[in-house]
This record gives sequence, C-alpha cells and structure tokens, in this order.
Amino acid sequence: MFGVCYYPEHWPQSQWEQDAQMMSELGLTYVRIGEFAWSKLEPNPGELDFEWLDQAVLTLNNAGLKVVMCIPTATPPKWLIDQHPDILPVDPNTGATRGFGSRRHYDFSSEIYLQESLRITKVLAMRYGGHEGIVGWQTDNELCCHDTALSGSKNARSAFQTWCRDQYPSIRKLNSEWGNVFWSMEYRDFTEIELPILAVTETSPAHRMAFRRFSSDQVVNYHNRMIEVIRQHAPNQFITHNFIPMNETGVDNVALAAPLDFTSYDNYPLGRTDLLLTGAPTEQLRRYMRTGHPDFATYYHDQTRGLLNRGFWVMEQQPGPVNWANNNPRPAPGMIRFWTIEAFAHGADCVCYFRWRQAPFAQEQMHAGLLRPDNSKTEAWPEAEQAMADVAQLDITSQPSQPASVAIITGVEGLWVSDIEKQGQAYDFNDVQFSYYSALRELGVSIDFISVDADFSPYTLIIAPSLPIIDSAFVSKCKASSAQFIFGPRSGAKTTEFGYPTNLPPGLLQTLIPIRVLSVETLREDCAEALNWNGKHYESCRWREQLDAGDTEVIAKYHNDEPAIVRNERFIYLGTLTNRDFLLDFLQQQCHHNNINTYRFDEDIRVSQRGKLIFAFNYSDQQHLLPLDSDTTLLLGNRIIQPHGITVWQASDKAPLLKK
Ligand code: GAL
Repeated sequence: MFGVCYYPEHWPQSQWEQDAQMMSELGLTYVRIGEFAWSKLEPNPGELDFEWLDQAVLTLNNAGLKVVMCIPTATPPKWLIDQHPDILPVDPNTGATRGFGSRRHYDFSSEIYLQESLRITKVLAMRYGGHEGIVGWQTDNELCCHDTALSGSKNARSAFQTWCRDQYPSIRKLNSEWGNVFWSMEYRDFTEIELPILAVTETSPAHRMAFRRFSSDQVVNYHNRMIEVIRQHAPNQFITHNFIPMNETGVDNVALAAPLDFTSYDNYPLGRTDLLLTGAPTEQLRRYMRTGHPDFATYYHDQTRGLLNRGFWVMEQQPGPVNWANNNPRPAPGMIRFWTIEAFAHGADCVCYFRWRQAPFAQEQMHAGLLRPDNSKTEAWPEAEQAMADVAQLDITSQPSQPASVAIITGVEGLWVSDIEKQGQAYDFNDVQFSYYSALRELGVSIDFISVDADFSPYTLIIAPSLPIIDSAFVSKCKASSAQFIFGPRSGAKTTEFGYPTNLPPGLLQTLIPIRVLSVETLREDCAEALNWNGKHYESCRWREQLDAGDTEVIAKYHNDEPAIVRNERFIYLGTLTNRDFLLDFLQQQCHHNNINTYRFDEDIRVSQRGKLIFAFNYSDQQHLLPLDSDTTLLLGNRIIQPHGITVWQASDKAPLLKK
C-alpha cells in the first residue's frame, strides 16, 4: 500500500480536487494530513474552524483516498504560548528557554500543555472518530525530534521530585541508591532534589540515570494520555506514531509504542547518511551520498518493526533532496524505487512519500516532493509508479515479515549508560550495536531487534552487543532458552542504580558465564591492538576488559595472550570491541554453527528475506553476478544485478546459494 503526506492548508482550496485526482491516478491509497495545522484549526482560543478540514477530507475521499488524521500537538500556536509561556522547554545544556517559531516548542512536564493537548485531541477525535473516510490517526509528529526529550524547566524539576518520591520509599533510600554520600550530595528532602544539569562538573551517574528514566516516562505518559482520548472517540480507527529512533531521542520507544496499533518510521536515507558520516573519510561519504549507506535505512526499519513485532509503515519517504542535512544531494536514479521496495522487504505494510508538492515558502522550500511548486512531476514520480508495480507483482505484503533468524537485544538503558558514563570517548552504544547489525547484514542475515522481555524461542542465535543492566529474570530466560547467546563487553556491568557490581562485571551474568572482569581500559580509536582468533590477527580496540576466565573456554586472546573472548556452553562473552573484519568472520562462523544461511556477496550488496521472497539490493554503481543456483526461480531482475538494482527470487527448502 502507498500514500503521501499532504498539507491542504498550504494550498488554495481550488487546487485540492486536482491534487486528489492526481494522487488517485498515481495509485495512492492513503493521505496523511493535519500534523502541524493547529493555528488553522483554532485561530483564536476556543474558536475552532473545521470547515476547511472537513472539505479537505471530503475532497480526498471523493477521489477514493483514505485519510490518516494527525493530532497537531507538535506545533502549539502562538496565542497558546503567549497565554502560558512556561509551556516552552528549557535547554538542559544552557538553561535557556527554547522559543516559539519552529516546532516541538513544548515541555513534556507542562501540565497546562498536557491538558491543552488532550483538549485539541478530544475535539478532533470527537469530530472524526466515526468518520468513514478516516482510517486512522498519527499522534503528534516525531516525538522528541530536535533534542526535546529533556527539559531543564521548573516544571520538569518539580515533576522530577514527584517522580523520585514515587520511585524511592524515603530520601535516605534515594541518597544511598544514588551514592550521594560521595561529594556531599545528600538531600534532606525530596523537595531539595535538583535536575542533574548545569553543575560545575559531572553530576552523579545514578542521578542522571534517574533523570533519563523520568524524562522518558514523561514522554510515554503524555503520549498514553493522548491515545486514551483517541481510543475513546475513535474505537475503530488505527493509531500510529512516526518514531524518531531511540538512539537519537533517548526515549524508551518500546514503552512508547506499546499502546499503538502499529509503528511508523520516517525514512530519509540521504539526510541520515550525510549526518551520520559527518567527519568520515571523503571516499566513504562520496560512495553513498546518493544511495544512502547500505545499512542505515534498514537499521531503523528493523528497529521500528521490532517495537511491536509486526508490520510497520514508512510514514515519510524521502523523494529527492532534503533541506536539513549538512549537504543535500539528489538521489541516484532508481533510488526512490529501491528504498521503497527495501522498506517492504524489511516488513513495511505501507510507504507514504513526503511530501506531495514542494512548498514554495517557509523552512522546507528547498525540500523536494513528488511535484515541484509548478506542478511538474519530479523524478520520484515514475519511480514511485514503478515501485507500486513491483510491489504488486511480487505481492510482498502478503508475506510474513517475522521472525528473522537472528535477534539483537536492544534497549534504551544501554544507550543511557553509554551516554552518561563515557569512560572512553570511542564507546558509543549506537556505534557498537550498529557494528554488529551491519556485519550481519553484510552476511545477508535477517535480524529482529528484540527487548529483554521478548519471546526468545523463535531464535537460534541471540546477540546482546551492549546490555549493561540486566536482572535475574533475564538470566533465567537465557538459561531456559535453547539459543546461543553472544554478549558484548560491558554486559551486566552496571546495577539498576548505575553502580559497579561488587562481585565484579559481568555481574548477574556470572551465573551463565563464570568469569570476572578485573579491569577495563579504553583506548583511542586509532590505537588498536591485536585480537588473535582462529589463527588470524584482528583488532581489539576502544573498550578492552581484562578477564579472569575461570574455567571457561578461551576462544580468542589479546596480543599478550590474555583471554579476550570466552565461551561457557551456549554463552559467549566478548571482553573487547573489535573491528569489522573480525565481526564478519566470527559472526559468519557462529551463523554456520547454528545452521543460519549467510550470503556474503559484494560489500555493497544486501540480501533480505520476507517470507518466501529473497531480495538482493545493489547499493553500488557496478553490476554484479549473483551466484544463484541454476534452478533458482527469479521473480524480479536478473542474476546480473544492475547498479542500484534489485533482484528477487523465491526461497527454496534447500540452501538457495553457495555459502562462501
Ligand atoms: C521529518 C518531519 C517532516 C519534515 C521532514 C523533512 O522529520 O516529520 O515534518 O520536516 O522531516 O524531511
């Protein structure tokens, strides 16, 4: 299924009908509207104007299109901010109030804003909750984008104090859990508690952890309350949200997703590649600047799908140059079709293009759409048409998208730990997690992102790249499962309250792998040392643990012969971060031990599987011969995969390819 993001309020009403007609002719089913339209809906306090929105919905419906209505809370109007200036959030790094004039200018701890949000939600849900032409709802827009999860406001401070009161039975208990005796940080009462911001030097990690937990809870609570209102008045319409990845917002997206019908993601491969490769060697960026890095889009598709373990939507798909990265190139020819099919291959049920027409005014006037401001069609148009034909021909959406063969355990607490306690500049939760993901993807392995609470039974191989906080329930689940587990360094290394386990890391994990981490060293990124495994030299880098391996089997060693990677039965522990070559070879071996097929082609080719369909995506500008068996049934493309091309074949019961 396909859709588009449309802003009727940006265009004269006389244009709507033609727009709707063209959308329908293109083959679109859904149109998302309204996410920033508060000032149009309520131009003055309490003065609601629905006429235009009713008319827009009607015009779209008349052309056979279904509407996804949005709650416009990402953009509180000026009059509301003037009435209640303390809706505005405070930058926790500077203490400055963040002003009106763009978007997301609200504080999740503002009780007034919560009430105002619920009011506008109710008004909309009551009006459109039973409307036949409206299929569902999008809550807000990209919650916590633009670094808005944390606020250093007075509202946040008092809400944090209340939150602490709920979490800890007494202030004495809080003091002892946070280690406040250190540096005379003890509080006498909950009302004395500060936010861990703007202090002279670092604040206590336990305090910061509590603030991250609190801030995430505030967002989840705000969102849950909104959903309750929509559900009440729109029981038969779906509710979704277009998520910003957890590693960017620092919010617990699993909790945020829980009450939704399905999750959505906004896919901007070039913008993201440009930002994420800022500072990377020129050749690396140049290679992917018009295609996106082969693993960035799917990294987030797979995480978005994992939030609810079901199909997701791409609510916004980049159609051409964007306006917000350092530099904003045009996609290589074919990439709109490529990204679209790639999203379906990774479990999307629907892809909506952002936006219908480039706006000739305001902040995003340099951002492409399916149409230019003069109504001419951009290159994205025929590519979207082609993608629709391909998706229909392959009948992709009728294929199940889960489970994958390998699971990566993820969770926001690992991110918080790495943000709060750097220890080494080069240890970054997301980089660590991505390095495993990307190596597995280069091996053509499909991956599910799961949380510690997930059902482990569908998987034979489960990897936890960065899981510093665990509990005994998790340890019992690992024991009860028959999967093989791989734990990265720092696993089990922190208590719930951000302390160092007195039995030494990996703490509770010692039940599964009886080892002790005697010390940790971190090294500058370019100061790697040897990691010896399987008769070859690889790199041990950035984060290195000195292990007392006890009676475990040592399977890799450091340059000085000390144990670096150990195994105890089904449990492997890596005491070090390492390089891509190692991850590729090691993970390939582990996959083969577990009878998981790998497809190690060119480094720019990715293989994905959805049900019975196997896709090869060629990110390079060269053609490649895919070594498929002679009796493989090709469904799309050829054995010789074209530059930026796609080949799809039917999975068969026997190994579909030679393993390299
Ligand atoms: C998204 C956002 C849209 C628009 C788009 C531009 O992050 O949801 O409203 O700003 O980026 O690429």
